[in-house]
Amino acid sequence: MCGIIGVVGASDTLATLLEGLERLEYRGYDSAGVALSGAGGTWRARAAAGTESVLALKLECEDAPTGFRTGLGHTRWATHGAPEAINAHPHLDCAGNIAIIHNGIIENHGELQEELESRGHVFTSVTDSEVLAHLIEEARAAGQDLTEAVRTSLLTVRGAFALAALDATEPDVIVAARRVSPLVVGTAPGVTYLASDVPAILDKASAFYAVNDDEIVRLGPEGFRAIDLEGAPVRLRPLSIDWDLETAQKGGYDDFMTKEINEQPDALRATLLDRRHRDNVITFDEMSLSDDELRDVTRIVLVAAGTSYHAALVAKYAIERWARVSCEVDISSEYRYRDPVVEIGTLVIGVSQSGETIDTIQATREAQRRGAHVVAVSNVVDSSLAREANAVIYTRAGLEVSVASTKAFVAQVAALELFALRLAQLRGTLPERDVEALYLGLQAVGAQVAVALSRRDDVTAVADALAGARDFFFLGRHVGFPTALEGALKFKELTYLHAEGYPAGELKHGPLALIEPGVVVVVVATDPSVHEKILSNISEVKARGASVVAVATDDDETISSVADFILRVPATEPMFSPMIDIVPLQIFAYATARGLHHNVDRPRNLAKTVTVE
Ligand code: G6P
Repeated sequence: MCGIIGVVGASDTLATLLEGLERLEYRGYDSAGVALSGAGGTWRARAAAGTESVLALKLECEDAPTGFRTGLGHTRWATHGAPEAINAHPHLDCAGNIAIIHNGIIENHGELQEELESRGHVFTSVTDSEVLAHLIEEARAAGQDLTEAVRTSLLTVRGAFALAALDATEPDVIVAARRVSPLVVGTAPGVTYLASDVPAILDKASAFYAVNDDEIVRLGPEGFRAIDLEGAPVRLRPLSIDWDLETAQKGGYDDFMTKEINEQPDALRATLLDRRHRDNVITFDEMSLSDDELRDVTRIVLVAAGTSYHAALVAKYAIERWARVSCEVDISSEYRYRDPVVEIGTLVIGVSQSGETIDTIQATREAQRRGAHVVAVSNVVDSSLAREANAVIYTRAGLEVSVASTKAFVAQVAALELFALRLAQLRGTLPERDVEALYLGLQAVGAQVAVALSRRDDVTAVADALAGARDFFFLGRHVGFPTALEGALKFKELTYLHAEGYPAGELKHGPLALIEPGVVVVVVATDPSVHEKILSNISEVKARGASVVAVATDDDETISSVADFILRVPATEPMFSPMIDIVPLQIFAYATARGLHHNVDRPRNLAKTVTVE
């Protein structure tokens, strides 16, 4: 989620870094920094000023010394530690010669920091990343060169990273490594570049190479060489890049929405990373409510708007099923004005991608005024909602640009379901082996989402076949119901066509009157516990002439006899299915909207963040 740039051998090192950081702005950031290095030492500048961080950093750099040929730059999207200048990268070792930048999460940073501090290292930030600078410092002190020092340090860390390190005592070298988080190398005559994303170095490098997981690259002015974690040489994969800047910022996709839909496995992985201690206790480092406070909760109220409301609805099923706590979900703008009951033991959870939606902020303020503890689930660190809440859980989906929310939804569901598992653990409402199985199942959802994404063409073909339709119903039961609501919301936002989400069992109490030939009914039919009932609902709408599109699992053989079109998804634990089943529905809405020539990133009349009531 952070942006990374590095350069070795340039005559305009600082300008290259600052320009590259500006070109990473579209990723969003809360602080920025650079380190320049040469035989004379390492010089660093950092600034935190929200969206103006690079501008503020430029001011900090006005009196930067000249003549450095090696440097690193970083824009930060905070995960551990507040978005303040002391937490901005680069981080230095104790002597101030080694500088590191890092994108990702070091899961075992707590234990590593304790060990390093016991050996005399002094930490100056509240980040998981700083341990890397001190680990590399120890390895260098033991006589290893920078490449070997990075390699051996990485043998001790768990988690995800794209990182880069330089050391003034080994000038004209950058060593970088990757696990999970992206990293590319670029070359031009006499200069070698490094970046988290191609746009940062697009107009500088003439050839590009992808660094794979667990590969370490040593960059010098004349090029680079790569090794694996065992030290054996490896070849980097050349990338053929013929993008302009805008295409590069969209990761080579046509629009941000496609990019963000495709980022969902990464959003899940990042959100779920580093959430369990060694004794298998699920943990949210950033959450400050004590175990006792959580154990005493007798009722949970989730408040949210739009897509976040649908994620909250899914969470209700998980919280009640696993933790046996009574749970209700309210639209933020309704909660505030309905004179809500807040008793001792009521926990209110505000769910918001931006953390700035005024309806949700006002709802949680109202809850706090009435004495409730408030937890914020926010995708933006230090958002207004997060700052005002008593505790916070961050989803780590990365910046979402497209107005229609996609990756934030799956990250919210994952974070809230993990929270439900934590509550179950604390309250002893699930046997520990069930918690373990569910925890592992949740970790596997990202891979299942990737399978659903690989079927994009099948979904587009269905959208094409239904191109003339104008009325759509989305039906589901159990957690398939919020999935249907979210599918309908995506569809109406993007296509401007009538789309209604409904609990399948409620259809006969009214909406069935609207079903006639030409109407399309999209049915989420993946949950075995309600499958027979869903098949009956499909028959009801088929009998009245509707065309039926079913989202069904790979092993469902009965569905083909009742549905006209089938969108296949991998089978999973039903509680996890919304994160997988929403994928074909997102693509269905997207493909239909593209067919109608709509701007999918910016639907008419809508805003990404709504700060008016
Ligand atoms: C707007 C956006 C939606 C979003 C909703 C809630 O309506 O267009 O995509 O779901 O706000 O936003 P939040 O940031 O609170 O999740």
